[in-house]
Amino acid sequence: MILLDGKKTSADIKEEIALEVAELRRRKDITPHLAAVIVGSDGASITYVNAKVKACERVGFESSLIRLPEDTSEEELLNEISILNVDNDIDGFIVQLPLPKHIDEQKIIMAIDPEKDVDGFHPTNVGKMALNLPTFISATPFGILELLDRYNVETSGKHVVVIGRSHIVGSPMSILLAQKRKIGNATVTLTHSRTKNLKEITLQADIIIAAIGIPEFLKADMVKDEVTIIDVGITRVPDSRKKSGYRLLGDVAFEEVSKKAAFITPVPGGVGPMTIAMLLKNTLLACKNKI
Ligand code: GUN
Repeated sequence: MILLDGKKTSADIKEEIALEVAELRRRKDITPHLAAVIVGSDGASITYVNAKVKACERVGFESSLIRLPEDTSEEELLNEISILNVDNDIDGFIVQLPLPKHIDEQKIIMAIDPEKDVDGFHPTNVGKMALNLPTFISATPFGILELLDRYNVETSGKHVVVIGRSHIVGSPMSILLAQKRKIGNATVTLTHSRTKNLKEITLQADIIIAAIGIPEFLKADMVKDEVTIIDVGITRVPDSRKKSGYRLLGDVAFEEVSKKAAFITPVPGGVGPMTIAMLLKNTLLACKNKI
């Protein structure tokens, strides 16, 4: 079994980005700038956004964190977005999801200038991605492609089973892996909560992408030998032995499934760190697109 080490791979990518940033600054006096907007005080969201901002510092980007209170109105958030859209200093920005219930997420995403939408969530960018045109590929699917690429995991002609149809991971992942691209050309089955006989399907998979957010959902008896496992799940489970009061669990029962797998991502340290590295990559791209 080979561990798909997202921590190490993302560190390599960040190093590559840092070199490019130093070069951009030296030759053109340009520094990429990412802004992140967070509404409310959800613990996990704050942790993720802080990690994104910290990663910016590490590669030499400028970053701005805009923290808005939980009771921010949709109109106020739209106003913040219109300011970021026209701010020439900002190359790209993200609005951390989920948003409080009283805000229409789709309306917010549609208000972001697609050229600055480094999350790749705007319908214009999702459409371009689906057509295999150059665009910002969302950080999590982009990170998974990169991880498979750097570990030389063959996808061409393989049967990939994606579990979960979210807009952020499952749906784009299924589209990308079926496309004619270096990491692609797979036969893809997209499964979800209404899928019947899931186990019959996962047992046929060469590669499984688990993205449903149910801790340890995928068990050893659901996978065949030599399978490749990408675990996107990251659920906080209360654990009094931990200083933080919780531990992180993926969607895959790692102990038992790893015994059968050829390649597998750990949680934490798999897909999560890759997501941050690819967000930086998209921000660098947004910056270079302006030159
Ligand atoms: N919430 C969970 N994942 C993401 C992500 O990739 N981007 C944003 N903006 N919010 C998220």
